[in-house]
Amino acid sequence: MSTVIEARQLTKVYPMGEEKVHALRGVSFSVRRNEYIAIMGPSGSGKSTLLHILGCLDRPTSGELIIEGTNVLQATDNRLAEIRNRRIGFVFQNFNLMSRATALENVELPLIYAGVRKKERRERAVAVLERVGLADRLHHRPTELSGGQRQRVAIARALVTEPAFILADEPTGALDSKTSVQIMELFAQLHEEGNTLLLITHNQSVAQEAERLIEILDGLIIGDSGQEGVGA
Ligand SMILES: Nc1ncnc2c1ncn2[C@@H]1O[C@H](COP(=O)(O)OP(=O)(O)O)[C@@H](O)[C@H]1O
Ligand SMILES: [Mg+2]
Repeated sequence: MSTVIEARQLTKVYPMGEEKVHALRGVSFSVRRNEYIAIMGPSGSGKSTLLHILGCLDRPTSGELIIEGTNVLQATDNRLAEIRNRRIGFVFQNFNLMSRATALENVELPLIYAGVRKKERRERAVAVLERVGLADRLHHRPTELSGGQRQRVAIARALVTEPAFILADEPTGALDSKTSVQIMELFAQLHEEGNTLLLITHNQSVAQEAERLIEILDGLIIGDSGQEGVGA
């Protein structure tokens, strides 16, 4: 199956007291396997809201979302959690690592949730940490690592379940420019290796690294370089 994500007319309305915030106002696009997409837009345009919905962390107000052939909005909470834990990898701006746990333990965690046994867990976590260049940092805790190394641990954690796609929300937002370049090189390598990547950014030079650009403004897609007839 080459279509990994199909989003149809997604909307999200947040109630704010008397007011309503229309964070997404009808977003449609699809993602094929091994695409590398940057989603760009100014602050408040709805990028994180979209990422939370695509990641099954939140449900839209209306619309349809199909992930690997499963209509996730009709799925039970258990099924949704299974998709989220096993089929989607997350990378956040602030890494979201467990501070008391070593790099290896952080990366093993999703495999614990997935019920993978200890020996295999360890082997897979070590292998993926080697792939992101941290073979010599397995037993370091986040405070003993640089920002770039922390983000590599988070990327390894996202990869270890062999997800259908990786969602990254401003993954270089907390990094200096030299480290950002190195992390972008790692994403390019992961794309080369066959991974499907969706990366949210408001940084033009980061967005240029992707092969397809989706531009979002006020909760709407205003440009999509991978789709004919949308935007400029
Ligand atoms: N939990 C929430 N409750 C109410 N409003 C929200 C919530 N999350 C986001 N918003 C609003 O929705 C809009 C889109 O936010 P967001 O998706 O975070 O944008 P971006 O990531 O592009 O900066 C903004 O106007 C924001 O204030
Ligand atoms: Mg955001």
